[in-house]
Amino acid sequence: MNSDIAEVLFSREEINQKVQELAQKIDHEYGDKEIVTIGILRGAIFFMADILRAFKVKLVMDVMSVSSYGEKDITSSGQVKILNDIMINIKDRDVLIIEDIIDTGLTLYHVKRHLLDRGANSVKICTLLDKPSNRKFKVGSDYNGFIIPNEFVVGYGLGYDNRYRNLDYIGILKPEIYQN
Ligand code: PRP
Repeated sequence: MNSDIAEVLFSREEINQKVQELAQKIDHEYGDKEIVTIGILRGAIFFMADILRAFKVKLVMDVMSVSSYGEKDITSSGQVKILNDIMINIKDRDVLIIEDIIDTGLTLYHVKRHLLDRGANSVKICTLLDKPSNRKFKVGSDYNGFIIPNEFVVGYGLGYDNRYRNLDYIGILKPEIYQN
């Protein structure tokens, strides 16, 4: 285990299992409809890659690049910047946002509104992690993998100062790493 990690929350096996469960549930709910999946970079990169390959539902994929945390921040700046917008037309389409974590809800609140403004027929949210104790915006995940405590977590795409994203598990970062 990386020495900056205090505790492993979810192993690669537990993540794999959860990704399969979420994919099956979503496949079942959308049935024969074709959906548009929109992955929110950068944090969702590995989750998106895995769940998209687990889906049987017909889909068109796109990504958005959005940021609300500075590189070395552990709390949100309160502002959402769309760094790269979607390329495809989602008018009248059923959209599924793929996101690594919903924390304060700021990012997903804005992204969902942005996609509805672009004329989507429906916008649902699939998150791997949910930290409900920290929610400040009225938005929820339609499909969530794990509820987590109010700790700063990294790995499987989630980073601090862009480090730790490549860990194949999700763990709690030691506070001394970001308190210096
Ligand atoms: C992280 C994470 C979510 C968001 C969740 O992104 O990937 O997008 O914060 O927090 P919120 O619910 O409080 O908005 P970040 O802005 O750090 O960018 P990243 O995806 O590049 O890591």
